[in-house]
Amino acid sequence: MDLVDNIVKLKKEKKAILLAHNYQRPEIQDIADYVGDSIELSRKAMSEKEAEIIVFSAVDFMAETAAILNPHKKVLLPSLGARCPMAQMLTADEIKKWKTLYPLVPVVLYVNTLASAKAYCDICCTSANAVEIIEALDAETVLFGPDHNLAEYVQEKTGKTILPIPEWGFCPTHLLFQPEDADMLKMQHPDAVLMVHPECTAEMRRLADFVGSTSQMCRFARESSSEKFIVATEEGLLHRLRKENPGKQFILAYEEAVCPNMKLNTLERIYLALKEEKYVISVPEDVARHTRKALEKMFEVINRKG
Ligand code: 13P
Ligand code: SF4
Repeated sequence: MDLVDNIVKLKKEKKAILLAHNYQRPEIQDIADYVGDSIELSRKAMSEKEAEIIVFSAVDFMAETAAILNPHKKVLLPSLGARCPMAQMLTADEIKKWKTLYPLVPVVLYVNTLASAKAYCDICCTSANAVEIIEALDAETVLFGPDHNLAEYVQEKTGKTILPIPEWGFCPTHLLFQPEDADMLKMQHPDAVLMVHPECTAEMRRLADFVGSTSQMCRFARESSSEKFIVATEEGLLHRLRKENPGKQFILAYEEAVCPNMKLNTLERIYLALKEEKYVISVPEDVARHTRKALEKMFEVINRKG
């Protein structure tokens, strides 16, 4: 029996589901029960009532979010080292420091943070709903972390004052995209549409025809009448884009735009995760309680908007 057959068999035996982030390797996306962005995957985990085990093929903060929202399910991260460096850039202590400086200002945290940091925020957001969440807040000034590029994007879109915490938080993968490369590709493919993730720099966003999260890019590409797209986000998304749009062409805006943390997950590790039920992601209940509230507030706002 090959690896894929073994994974399928174990999933059935153990009542497990495999969730894969849009940046996972193609062979993982192809056998996953669901492929999506960070928050879509956590919602999927909640709606799968029969599942007892969730194998979350992604990075630490996403598996933590799933564990917090699904306290009665076992959440497994196939690679213990799959940690998002941006999430590590904002600690609970740093947030406490900013809260002391701005006691009346709400704290909004991107889901790309550790649960220990989320426990100190008022509400969470994702790149797909950050603008909506900030607009819904009854405040003109907001502390926002950890991505200063996303903070800047939200400020441009909402006109509110967004104070980034820390001042320099960033995603090393999205920082690899440079306007010179995008300009060159646009010259080579004048009929192409440039899609840019909001974690990219302001210079990249200014060149973009569309700025959005991974799932928003999927929707945009599906609904657009264009046939060619230059894509500025992690290369894993191109597999999904090509699969969903066989007649369209997708060009990565920088060849080496790979998130090494996302790519730590392999079919072998998924098989081992299922077989040995490792690595179990759990969050202490006091931290989980606060963090769950901040996540639920986010869901309330986006559900209200429909
Ligand atoms: P999404 O919220 O689009 O899934 O992105 C998460 C991420 O890690 C972006 O780099
Ligand atoms: Fe973190 Fe960037 Fe990798 Fe996303 S792409 S998981 S933000 S390092």
